Amino acid sequence: MALLEWNEKLATGITEIDAQHKRLVAMVNSLHEAMKIGKSRDMVAGLIGELKDYARSHFDTEEKLMERYKFPGLDPHRVEHNRFIEKILDYDLNLQEGASVPPMDVMLFLKNWLGSHILGTDQLYAPFLKEKGVR
Ligand SMILES: [Fe+2]
Repeated sequence: MALLEWNEKLATGITEIDAQHKRLVAMVNSLHEAMKIGKSRDMVAGLIGELKDYARSHFDTEEKLMERYKFPGLDPHRVEHNRFIEKILDYDLNLQEGASVPPMDVMLFLKNWLGSHILGTDQLYAPFLKEKGVR
């Protein structure tokens, strides 16, 4: 069974963003599956690479929408995005330097992100953008 199931609490109601958030849930689940069978160290570098791509394109989607509709909470939201990116770049640097990145660390970081950012901060723009007609 997957660690995380998509549910309505995670949803923002904005199609493109929910599709991107589902991709992150899938990444958490595949890390979990790999941990269960003792293969997570083999996939952690690939996962960090995917998270770099993901963060760039997903945060860009969110920030452009917030900019376009002048969401007043954009600045603090962007600060959280930048912290996420810094953490991923940190993991990436560790890997490039030949250090290991413990899969459990990445798991805790992502679960914390889901709980605090997707369930918290992202829910702040959702009603605002929907009110502006974003679907
Ligand atoms: Fe966000």
